[in-house]
Amino acid sequence: MATTKGFSVHDEMDVPVTLAALTLEEKAALLSGSEAWASTPVERLGIPSITLTDGPHGVRRVDPGAESFSFDASLPATCFPTAAALGSSWDVDLLDRVGEALGAESRAAGVSVLLGPGLNIKRSPLCGRNFEYLSEDPVISGRLGAALVRGIQSRGVGASVKHFAANNQETDRMQISAEVDTRTLREIYLAGFEHIVTTAQPWTVMAAYNKVNGVHAAQNSWLLTDVLRGEWGFDGLVVSDWGAVTDPLAAVVAGLDLEMPGTNGTSARKLVQAVRTGIVEESVLDQAVARLLTLVNRTTHPHEPVQEVDFAQHHQLARRAAAESAVLLKNENALLPLDPGAGLTMAVIGEFARTPRFQGAGSSRINPIRVDSALDALTRAAGEQWTLSFAPGFTLSGEDDQDLLAQAVAEAAAADVAVVFLGLAEGVESEGHDREHLHLPEVQIRLLEAVAEANDQVVVVLANGGVVEVASWQHHARAVLEGWLNGQAGGSAIADLLLGHANPSGRLAETIPLRLQDNPSYLNFPGSAGTVLYGERGYVGYRYYDAKDIPVAYPFGHGLSYTTFGYSDLRTTVEGVGEDAVVRLSLTVTNTGPVTGREVVQVYVADLACSLDRPVRELKAFTKLELAPGQSAPVDFELRARDLSFFSPEHDRWVLEGGDFRISVGASSRDLRLTATVTVDAPQLLRPLRMESPVGEWLAHPVGGPLLRRMLSGAQGSAVAADPTIFRMVESLPLSRLVAMSGDRLDTADLSRLVGRKP
Ligand code: BGC
Repeated sequence: MATTKGFSVHDEMDVPVTLAALTLEEKAALLSGSEAWASTPVERLGIPSITLTDGPHGVRRVDPGAESFSFDASLPATCFPTAAALGSSWDVDLLDRVGEALGAESRAAGVSVLLGPGLNIKRSPLCGRNFEYLSEDPVISGRLGAALVRGIQSRGVGASVKHFAANNQETDRMQISAEVDTRTLREIYLAGFEHIVTTAQPWTVMAAYNKVNGVHAAQNSWLLTDVLRGEWGFDGLVVSDWGAVTDPLAAVVAGLDLEMPGTNGTSARKLVQAVRTGIVEESVLDQAVARLLTLVNRTTHPHEPVQEVDFAQHHQLARRAAAESAVLLKNENALLPLDPGAGLTMAVIGEFARTPRFQGAGSSRINPIRVDSALDALTRAAGEQWTLSFAPGFTLSGEDDQDLLAQAVAEAAAADVAVVFLGLAEGVESEGHDREHLHLPEVQIRLLEAVAEANDQVVVVLANGGVVEVASWQHHARAVLEGWLNGQAGGSAIADLLLGHANPSGRLAETIPLRLQDNPSYLNFPGSAGTVLYGERGYVGYRYYDAKDIPVAYPFGHGLSYTTFGYSDLRTTVEGVGEDAVVRLSLTVTNTGPVTGREVVQVYVADLACSLDRPVRELKAFTKLELAPGQSAPVDFELRARDLSFFSPEHDRWVLEGGDFRISVGASSRDLRLTATVTVDAPQLLRPLRMESPVGEWLAHPVGGPLLRRMLSGAQGSAVAADPTIFRMVESLPLSRLVAMSGDRLDTADLSRLVGRKP
């Protein structure tokens, strides 16, 4: 074994041969880390230690000389926009590029596995880690997460899709049991993971801290073995979140392969003991060790040189990504982009313009290569033609400062336009705790009110990871640009957008509600006494707001541009039946405005006659395309059976029920421009029959129906069969009751043979 540039180099191992050569003690040792960020080596057999580090929006390689768990002592790396921003780009290619850059930086830093992307669904806007997650919707999370995984792994570095699963809050995160029904788990909380595993083959998945329906995710064999490996075909390694394992034996038996961080040999000793005393077969350890050896093989590259990182180019990518991710929420009278024509005076207000907030707190915190502030970028852009002034307006610590307020008001009064940078304070959004409310700090709201009194041309630029409440103050601003926590180049990107050098094309991947109380999880977040009930079931985010037609501040999918887009000519075709059904859509999108812009075309599906309740619309496909003024482009989509299906707990599988589906294409979940109804054929969905099933269900059954009819028309049931009114009444009666009411005279021998049969 040798080392080049911090990266371990060794020849590929023959996994079965190496496995056979390992002692039980060595195998057990391999299944937990050697320290905080490294796996255990076995030098005798040339098995190197590999490094796993955070993630997800940059490489947090802890300085080897520093304390292992210090968040402030990592080596410099490009800080890309956080997932909250990237998710709002709706741009699969962009995330591929960001993934490649993350992979390249990991590789150069000697990192074998980058701990990301974070895929948890934004169930509540209060979740302290929402900035690390992509969306409230599993289709966006899955598609964008898959792009990140593909990009990272294309550079020979493993991704770690986290936190599997139902880790949607920070409160009590190590213990809380997420109580989620099967259908909701499958349709909302697992679907994004499933998409990534089946399309991008991540080399690792990280098991979450929390329990899922009472069982720790890191020790949950249903999750890790039955679903992840059995159903989805995952062939990688499952690593625990750091400190997620409470019982190392239960974890390995459930399908966990690597416990992190190291436990100084304690877990290994327990595993050896369990094998020696016959509690567990050694083959269980062998499986996990084989997966670890495979990961080592996948992430070490004996003959490929490590490329130098082009940090300048990564900074430009981070800048483009930040510009693509910002969401223009409102823009009255087309105030933006600002016209820096002759004589414009701009008052830049708010400490965040000078000291940007560009990432969240906790394990994802990157030590950025450099940080652009919007103030610097705007100052550089200002020349002789236009001028700017700056007033911080508030301090980052948030106390009232009347002098700062007065100075900001004076600058605003003297300017043509006031651009006010507002946001959440660092520490409000962090791993480890949830937010308490959605409000911006009061000091900032008072500042905005005072500025708006002095100048009626106000633009607000927001810096926050999770959504903030905007309804109570946005009337003070003519334009609001949601910049998110947008990485080290975010300041330059904001300047690009304000001045029209870039055109906003971000769209909300999370609804902004009018009030926190409107959120569907409100009464069940963050739970108590160790459990949190996902009582809203699948009605998460827009699936709930749209079903109840509740007014929101800005709907899912919303985002303005400096141009406008027209949608026309929706055509649909349907081919195939059931599992083979394919619905093809084609339409035309036209840039109907004055400048080049990028539109996100969104496809929503509604099942018009379903035997279970379903949301009024669900996002099933999207694409982003660039169009010059006046340019039109055809856009095609293909929906497959799975896009029309729901997960049936009763059948324990995804099910497509034939019937009508409404397909809507538009610019947000509430700005649907074109709609068509298609009819899709599928075999009749039969429910498993029980003696308790209603008579109506028995009658609808192709085998049970004729049998029952024959029985009812026999002597004992003739009254029921003869009278249509009685017949309708008995439809909802459980069959067992009907039999009892007949004084057990109905002979059910033939029927009972059908009970419990899989339809
Ligand atoms: C976080 C993970 C992170 C790990 C290592 C945990 O606290 O939940 O997301 O990857 O620490 O830092």
